[in-house]
Amino acid sequence: MTSITSIETRGISLPRLGLGTWRLQGDSGRAAVESALGLGYRHIDTAEMYANEREIGHAIALAGVQRSDIFLVTKVWTNHFRAADARRAAETSLRNLRTDYVDLLLMHFPNESVPLAETLGALAGLLNAGKARAIGVSNFPIPLLEKAITVCPAPIACNQVKFHVGRDQGPLLAFARSHGIIFTAYSPLGLGSLSHHPVLKDIACKHAKNAAQIALRWLVEQDGVIAIPKATTERNLRTNIDIFDFVLDGEDRARLDKARGPGLFAHLASLRRFIVRRQLSGFVLA
Ligand SMILES: NC(=O)c1ccc[n+]([C@@H]2O[C@H](COP(=O)([O-])OP(=O)(O)OC[C@H]3O[C@@H](n4cnc5c(N)ncnc54)[C@H](OP(=O)(O)O)[C@@H]3O)[C@@H](O)[C@H]2O)c1
Repeated sequence: MTSITSIETRGISLPRLGLGTWRLQGDSGRAAVESALGLGYRHIDTAEMYANEREIGHAIALAGVQRSDIFLVTKVWTNHFRAADARRAAETSLRNLRTDYVDLLLMHFPNESVPLAETLGALAGLLNAGKARAIGVSNFPIPLLEKAITVCPAPIACNQVKFHVGRDQGPLLAFARSHGIIFTAYSPLGLGSLSHHPVLKDIACKHAKNAAQIALRWLVEQDGVIAIPKATTERNLRTNIDIFDFVLDGEDRARLDKARGPGLFAHLASLRRFIVRRQLSGFVLA
């Protein structure tokens, strides 16, 4: 049954809160995923493009959690959208992840140089062969999502897109909902920048939470939405999953809606520039 902690759709149950793993690589990436599984995460998001599927397979093997208790998502990169390439890429992902199937297999980005029907046909073949429990897309705008629904021989279960308090996705979300397509919010913390926002911090005080938890709770309270924050540190991993014991009220939501104006965008843009500068200069953000 759909609840605040999971969504049921087309025979699958997706935990509302998953672990994003872009840039989690090597020993520290493996350790973060193992630690997340130990803290109770049961939804892991990866992609062939993240070059970390081996680490994730290793972490799952070490964590002592049953494979069937984990919702595992991977994505086929755009250079593998010809049917034979997509099948090969998915098989490689499965080998690296040390599993016979993924729970959700996505096209990572649109690539209009390959017919959509060809790639989605290949993904549907993998679904029929039991190598994926559901298939979907990522970064698809409404017209392309509409086309995907038409040409795909199997249901599109999910569209994974950038979505957070500072980014309006109203029309795309409404379209996805009207077709029973799950909306996975990536970059749900605005790459960490939302944890510094004064309005979110203020609302957090009221609930004895922090700003990141407000940003995540705002997402998972929405119909059909799940969130996949990436975190490396145990502190952040622990914090991000601890969002199921409070509720945002009407006043909080109104303040968040109001904060989503040009002010918030300017704030996020300047923080993002700051984060990118720090990353480029080799700093690790605390
Ligand atoms: N489909 C796509 O095209 C696509 C594109 C981008 C991302 N994604 C997926 O979405 C996932 C999440 O997005 P993202 O990695 O871009 O950004 P994000 O989750 O919005 O932000 C990650 C950043 O926030 C920091 N952070 C995590 N928890 C925090 C907390 N409680 N307080 C303060 N800072 C915190 C992390 O720091 P630490 O790591 O130091 O803990 C990291 O620097 C990705 O990892 C990936 O799986 C998909």
